[in-house]
Parts: sequence; C-alpha cells; structure tokens
Amino acid sequence: MTTRGRFIGWQRKIASQPPAEGNTSLMRMNVLVVGGAGYIGSHCVRQLAAAGHRRSCWTNLVYGHRAAVAPGVPFHEADLGDEAAVGRILRSEKIEVVMHFAAYCYVGESVTDPLKYYLNNVAATLHLLKR
Ligand SMILES: NC(=O)c1ccc[n+]([C@@H]2O[C@H](COP(=O)([O-])OP(=O)(O)OC[C@H]3O[C@@H](n4cnc5c(N)ncnc54)[C@H](O)[C@@H]3O)[C@@H](O)[C@H]2O)c1
Repeated sequence: MTTRGRFIGWQRKIASQPPAEGNTSLMRMNVLVVGGAGYIGSHCVRQLAAAGHRRSCWTNLVYGHRAAVAPGVPFHEADLGDEAAVGRILRSEKIEVVMHFAAYCYVGESVTDPLKYYLNNVAATLHLLKR
C-alpha cells in the first residue's frame, strides 16, 4: 500500500471511532487551549468538552471569534507575548496541560512580514515554554 493509501486508511479509522465522551478510561485534565477562539483551537475546545475535560481558552482575538467559544468556558483575552499573563493564567486556572494553537498562519503575510511571524510564532511561544 502507498503512503497516501495508509494515511487515508488511518484518517478513516479515526473518523469512525466512537465519540470521545464514550471513553471513560481517559483522565480528566485541566487544559488550557491557547488560540482557542481560532479555527483549530475552537474545535479543540469543543472536543475537550465532549471528552469531559475542564478547558480554558486563551487568545488575543487578533483573529478568531469570541462567539466560537461557549459562554461557560473560562476565557482569557491576552497576548502570549505578555510573559506575566502567561504565569498568571497557568496558576489561576491550575493548568495541567497546554494545547498551543496561537499562531499567525497566513502564507502571503509571512513572506511580506517575516519578522511579525517570527516574533509571534517563535519568540512569544518561548514565554509559554519557559513556564
Ligand atoms: N487552519 C488549518 O487548516 C490548519 C492546518 C494545519 C495546521 N494549522 C496550524 O494551527 C494553528 C492555528 O491555526 P488556525 O487556522 O486555527 O488559526 P486562527 O487564526 O483561526 O487561530 C489562531 C488563534 O490564535 C490567536 N493568537 C495568535 N497569536 C496569538 C498570541 N500571540 N497570543 C494570543 N493569541 C494569539 C489568534 O488571535 C486566533 O484566535 C497554526 O499554527 C496553523 O499553522 C492550521
């Protein structure tokens, strides 16, 4: 079988699995979804809810939408570049797991303004990793 064939088979296997809420063997975790109001992050927040995890959302709302996150989910509007805010949110929400989707991801802009992308996607992420 080709690599592509194996990949498609793997995708189908995942898609056909029962919903995550049926998996009672999962540990319930306190998860911070950074970039949680964006396209990928907001789906992640919903899936975490379905799996029974406590989740918090963090975004600077430069992109994404507040309405993409259910009202009951703790919502922090701050920038990853704010190192003090990183520590504050990790402590106040007693975070055990971080899922990081906060990035700028427009190919054209990344070519015309690479420094903006480096500072946001690489340098700001270091604040998270340092904590
Ligand atoms: N969309 C896709 O199809 C796709 C596919 C593969 C990988 N990805 C990757 O997933 C990640 C998220 O993509 P997306 O499509 O959800 O983007 P998005 O723009 O919809 O969401 C990103 C969210 O992160 C926030 N954000 C960005 N920088 C931030 C910062 N410094 N501090 C706080 N919040 C910040 C934005 O405001 C936005 O709410 C990117 O790394 C992207 O490359 C996306």
